[in-house]
Amino acid sequence: MNVVVNYFSDSQGAALAVQEIEKEGGKAVAIQANIGEESGVKKILDTAISKFGGVDVWVNNAGVENQSPTHELSLDDWNRVISTNLTGVFLGSKTALKYFVENGKKGNIINMSSVHEQIPWPGFAHYAASKGGVKLFTESIAMEYAKQNIRVNNIGPGAINTPINAKKFADPVQYEQTASMAPMHRIGKPEEVAAAAAWLASDESSYVTGVTLFVDGGMTLYPAFQDGKG
Ligand code: BGC
Repeated sequence: MNVVVNYFSDSQGAALAVQEIEKEGGKAVAIQANIGEESGVKKILDTAISKFGGVDVWVNNAGVENQSPTHELSLDDWNRVISTNLTGVFLGSKTALKYFVENGKKGNIINMSSVHEQIPWPGFAHYAASKGGVKLFTESIAMEYAKQNIRVNNIGPGAINTPINAKKFADPVQYEQTASMAPMHRIGKPEEVAAAAAWLASDESSYVTGVTLFVDGGMTLYPAFQDGKG
């Protein structure tokens, strides 16, 4: 497997990902690019073509969030979250679609959405808005390009042990609170999300397009009802 690992500022994390891939017998290259800009996603595509001869699967994985009461939310924070989480998905998908269409190739796009494409999130309205946008963007382009054999799907992670949650999960009380919001009563592991991506990337999912595969320990199942109350 050949992978272009994109990073914005975390060059160490990207180098580690490259090492892991190479340890498993794959090839990988890390490149810095801002996926919120057209030139950034073009750089990623050009690298995949020059280093590995093309693209089979394009994953839009970058995401950011911050908490703020909406009446105090700055336009800068709104723009930062929308630019990475939604515009980045648009630009990455556009670049990949153009490449697949122009080369007459079947294609596969995987977008990292969230349980918050479905669950409202007070204090994170810009984040929820970005993920709600990703949901309908994915469904729309899945339909638009289905005839060309290009599949587009979302993964909807719940609470996963990744850097986006590091600060919150460093506090045992918040960790427990978040874990108990999933009927499975635990925080997810990054590799559990990766396994969903590997399946969507493979031909095992060849008839699947336009879906969100939630990897959330049941968080989207109305956990307030988990004890049979209601
Ligand atoms: C967010 C996490 C959050 C989880 C469940 C994810 O999309 O990135 O910070 O814990 O949703 O609310």
